[in-house]
Amino acid sequence: MSKDMTNPVLGILGVGYFASYFTSSLRKGGYKGKIYLSPRNAQTAERISKEHRCLVAQDNQDVIDKSDIILLSIRPEQLPGLLEKLSFRDNQIVITAVAGKTIADHYAVAGHLPQTLIRMIPVCSIEAGEGVVPIYPPNPEVEKIADFTGTPISFDSEHDFDLALTTSCMNGWLYEFFGTMTDWLEEKGLSQDQARNVILHNIRGATAYALQKKDQKLADITGEIATEGTFTLEGLNLLKKQNGFTAWDQALEHVHKKLTE
Ligand SMILES: NC(=O)c1ccc[n+]([C@@H]2O[C@H](COP(=O)([O-])OP(=O)(O)OC[C@H]3O[C@@H](n4cnc5c(N)ncnc54)[C@H](OP(=O)(O)O)[C@@H]3O)[C@@H](O)[C@H]2O)c1
Repeated sequence: MSKDMTNPVLGILGVGYFASYFTSSLRKGGYKGKIYLSPRNAQTAERISKEHRCLVAQDNQDVIDKSDIILLSIRPEQLPGLLEKLSFRDNQIVITAVAGKTIADHYAVAGHLPQTLIRMIPVCSIEAGEGVVPIYPPNPEVEKIADFTGTPISFDSEHDFDLALTTSCMNGWLYEFFGTMTDWLEEKGLSQDQARNVILHNIRGATAYALQKKDQKLADITGEIATEGTFTLEGLNLLKKQNGFTAWDQALEHVHKKLTE
């Protein structure tokens, strides 16, 4: 265990896809603390330990004993099996990345978890150093860790955290959306590279521009661009007529319901 909470020792239980992109993002973001991995799934643990300078612990309890902060990144159904055999110190921080399980759900399967249990579920784009890292409840140590990986946003209620989590699924839909526009450009004659770059840099520019205009409502930015007589307004009206935007609301509503029921 370390006394240096700038780079605390992090232990990871559940070394799969999530642990892989999280450790990659942490190291790329400059996290210098030790990271201990559970030895289960030995091949992945070995690969992550080589690629992202981690240490493979002897067993799950060893991960906990050596760490200040423990990250749970197993699948929801694996949670009870994992936790029943493990003991924690009272002053440890446990972060859970397990989607669809509330804080109360965690204590229901493992009453012996320490008092500081924080939900934190970043999107996979953090591997590129950008993306939202929703956190509930707010916790300065966890926010510091999250800051190495993307943009931490803390929430005061689990309800608000789940809303943010719903939009993480939206991230996945966006690639399909970008892909259909890229395909359209290719069908009309652009090369694969040109089409991809035109779409992705347009999108990147749009988010950078909006982030810069902090005091302006997002729809108002459209209003400034899509003025009377513009081609932008023509396309916008067509999209609205075809329910191009309300379809996204419906998908968010559906996923949010599933995520919280
Ligand atoms: N994947 C994503 O993009 C993503 C995004 C946000 C949140 N999450 C959350 O992250 C969690 C993990 O997802 P994932 O996609 O990374 O799943 P995954 O690739 O299946 O990884 C889970 C890992 O946990 C291991 N495990 C299971 N039981 C264990 C135990 N008792 N002790 C030690 N290790 C154990 C599994 O080993 P075995 O293979 O041997 O069972 C596997 O290596 C999920 O709860 C999910 O909700 C995932």
